[in-house]
Amino acid sequence: MVEVNNVVSGWMREAGMAVRRDVVGNLVGRYEGAGEKTLVLGSHLDTVRDAGKYDGTLGVMVAIACVQDLHDRGQQLPYALEVVAFADEEGLRFGTTFLGSSVYVGAFEERLLGLEDGDGVTLAEAVRVFGGDPESIVEGDCEGGDLLGYCEVHIEQGPVLEDLDLPVGVVAAINGQSRLGVGFAGEAGHAGTVPMETRRDALCAAGEFVLEVERAARREPGSVATVGKISVLPGASNVIPGEAELSLDLRNPDDAARERLRDNLEAKASEIAASRGCEHRWQVRQETPAVPMDSDLSTLLERAVEESGVPAKRLSSGAGHDAAQVAALAPAAMLLVRCERGISHNPAESVEREDVGAAIEVMRDFISLVSQRVDAGTEPGRMQEGR
Ligand code: GLV
Ligand code: MN
Ligand code: MN
Repeated sequence: MVEVNNVVSGWMREAGMAVRRDVVGNLVGRYEGAGEKTLVLGSHLDTVRDAGKYDGTLGVMVAIACVQDLHDRGQQLPYALEVVAFADEEGLRFGTTFLGSSVYVGAFEERLLGLEDGDGVTLAEAVRVFGGDPESIVEGDCEGGDLLGYCEVHIEQGPVLEDLDLPVGVVAAINGQSRLGVGFAGEAGHAGTVPMETRRDALCAAGEFVLEVERAARREPGSVATVGKISVLPGASNVIPGEAELSLDLRNPDDAARERLRDNLEAKASEIAASRGCEHRWQVRQETPAVPMDSDLSTLLERAVEESGVPAKRLSSGAGHDAAQVAALAPAAMLLVRCERGISHNPAESVEREDVGAAIEVMRDFISLVSQRVDAGTEPGRMQEGR
């Protein structure tokens, strides 16, 4: 993060922006305008393990390209543009998502500061080491003044646009998600001497649970559920596993359905543990409800898509995005860019140069449509209640 923040700061400055880093490590580039209001563009710079090149980064780069274009032409808008490159959207290290954007909007939950990474380092400590301030991240750090809105460009990470032969599409809503930590504890023992009948094998309990996760999600329409990580202790070929820890990621466009699946799986984990003489641990690390995008801002974005000669398709996003957090602070909209075979969170992630060009064109038009609204005194944004 230190390295990427340095590199991207340089690009932001070259594009005429004043750059600051906030209390948690989000990079904020500001291109001043003639008025007080601010339109925010952005996405995230962190990524997953064995990732592709475009998830998050593409949105930051498209935003910088739009500002670079204004700067090269010496053009000032009737409002300021801020490009925010969020930190830790993916949540790999602490099993939670949206760290940077939740701090940005003032919605960070203090209880998360005590979460530990795989090495036992707390989130509070990690923020401190990175140069941030764990006490003040709870306050939030948005200095944008009156926000007109937030617009994020992101690769689709799914196959819909490719199937429809469209370079870009507009997000209707972002699906809700739950992130959990689940643990099974049995008893470690000698692999050669303990009879099968008397074992309390934590990994066997976890294995049974993983297959139950798959079965249960298939039964619940619209649901997807993933165990992406599992660790086994003590972790030796001749020792019966005494402990197994796994991650659980649940998504659904319908919050009630997601909560139902979560609760059923908790009951199942307890049942499996009991049937094997094991204990189980169930830790809800994060709950994010489904978030509809702002209809006014999305209509403006659709107009920009149509003006570029592309039919405007609205689709829901199965992936989580920083826009889901920023929507609590300001009207939010998202533009998705077609990606090859819908593959993402994989080094094979790929986008076409022409599609990126199409996204930049749409965003430039969107920026000027917002300018027209500001000039006419009918700007889309307003500070929302509850910040
Ligand atoms: C973010 O990439 C997510 O997991 O949806
Ligand atoms: Mn991602
Ligand atoms: Mn992403």
